Amino acid sequence: MTTGPWPLTAARDQRGALTIGGVALPDLAAEHGTPLWVVDEEDVRARCRTYVTGFPGVEVTYASKAWCAIGILQLADQEGLKIDVASGGELYTALVAGVDPARIILHGNNKSEAELDQALEVGVGRIVVDSFEELERLERLAGARGTTAAVWLRITPGIDAHTHEYVRTGHDDAKFGFTLSLGLADRAFARALELDHVEVVGIHAHIGSQIFGTDPFMANAEVTLDLLARWRDEHGVTLSELNLGGGMGIRYTHEDHPVEVHRYGKAVLETVAERCAALEFPPPRLLVEPGRAIVGPSTVTLYEVGTIKPLPGLTTWVSVDGGMSDNIRPALYDAEHELTLANRASDAEPKAVTVVGKHCESGDLVREHAPLPSDLAVGDLLAVAATGAYTASMASNYNRLVRPGAVLVRDGQVRELVRRETFEDLVSHDVPLT
Ligand code: LLP
Repeated sequence: MTTGPWPLTAARDQRGALTIGGVALPDLAAEHGTPLWVVDEEDVRARCRTYVTGFPGVEVTYASKAWCAIGILQLADQEGLKIDVASGGELYTALVAGVDPARIILHGNNKSEAELDQALEVGVGRIVVDSFEELERLERLAGARGTTAAVWLRITPGIDAHTHEYVRTGHDDAKFGFTLSLGLADRAFARALELDHVEVVGIHAHIGSQIFGTDPFMANAEVTLDLLARWRDEHGVTLSELNLGGGMGIRYTHEDHPVEVHRYGKAVLETVAERCAALEFPPPRLLVEPGRAIVGPSTVTLYEVGTIKPLPGLTTWVSVDGGMSDNIRPALYDAEHELTLANRASDAEPKAVTVVGKHCESGDLVREHAPLPSDLAVGDLLAVAATGAYTASMASNYNRLVRPGAVLVRDGQVRELVRRETFEDLVSHDVPLT
C-alpha cells in the first residue's frame, strides 16, 4: 500500500486487516477504542527528512497549526525542524514540548499584547509582524523590557495560489500581512526603520495551502526578492532572511498528484539563485514552513460503522462514530479523504455509499460516494486517509462528543500521543449555577 494517500508503512496482514507501523488497526481499535487517530512515526520522520534534504541549505520549520500536540512537536524538533506557532497556546505547547525558544517563530494576524510579551519574555527566535498596530505594540513592549525584537514583516505578495478560497492568503484582499500592491509593505518597512526596539531582519510571505504546482512558489520567491532588492536600493538596508511560507499540497485521494518535495525545492532554489544574480542581491537565508506536508499523510482516522441505511434508488448512508467534530475539512472545504475497509479484506463488488458522522447536521460528511465493498456491515472499521493535518487541531466537542485519542505506531510498538477525552473532561470547564 505504498502508493496513494496512505502512510508509508501501511500494509495488509494475513487477515486482510490494515496495519500501520506493523500494528493491526483492529487491535488498536480493541485496545484504544474508536474514533482513533493512528500516526505512523516513520512517515512523519521520513517527511521531515525529505524536506531537509529536498531543500538543501534551507531552514525547514514545522507549521504547528497543522497538529500541535506535544509528541508531534517533539518528533519535528528531533528531526531538526524549527517550529512555527500562531498563538500563545501553540507557543506554550512548543515550550512544554521542550523546543528551544530560539527555534520558535511566532505568527498571527492579531497577536495579543500578552502573546507578544510572552514571546519576548521567553525569547522566541523571530516574530512575524502582521500589522501596523503590532509594530507599535512591539516597540512599546520590547522597549519596556529593554530589548529589541528581531522580526520579519509579513508581506502579502499579490499571488493567487488557485486553491480553496478559505486557504488562500497571498492575494491582495487578504486579512494577513502588509499588502505589497497597496504600498503597505513599504510603509511598514519605513516605519520599522524609525523604531528603536524593533529590528526587521527579513520578510515572510505565505501564499496559501494545498498548492499543487511549483509556479506560485517560484513567483513568491521572485516577488519577495524584488522587494528586498528595492528596499536595499531605496533605504540602503540589505535584509538577509526570507521565509517563503508553507502550503505544499499532499495526496488525500489517488487522484491528487502533488509535486515531489525535491522538485519543489529545486525549483525554489534555482529561482532564488537566478533572481539574486539578476538583482545582484546576496542570497538570503531561506526558510520554508510546511505543516500539512509534514503530518498530513502520516495519519489515518479509524472509525467503526454503526448504522447502514440503504435508500432504494437513492443514497446508502453509512454512519460512523465520529465526524465533523474530529474532521471538519469535508464540511468546511469540500475536502475529499480516501477511505478503506480496515478490519478485513473483501472481494465484494464495490458500491458507492455516503459515509457520514454522528452529528446533528446534514453537512456532517466523511466522504460522499465512497466506493466501499457491498458487504460492508455494522461493526466494520473504516480508515480515513491523510488526517494528520488540520483535523485534531481543528477538532471540537460538537454534540458533546469527546475528542478522540491518538496513538503513535512504529515497528510493532504503540505509544499514546493524545489521551481520549472523557465525559468528565467535557464538563470540567462548566460552572454550575448555585
Ligand atoms: N505558514 C503560515 C503563515 C500559514 O498560515 C500556514 C497555514 C502554514 C505556514 C502551513 O501551511 P501548510 O503547509 O500546512 O499548507 N485548515 C486548512 C488549512 C489552513 C492553513 C493555514 N495556514 C485545511 O484544513 O486545509
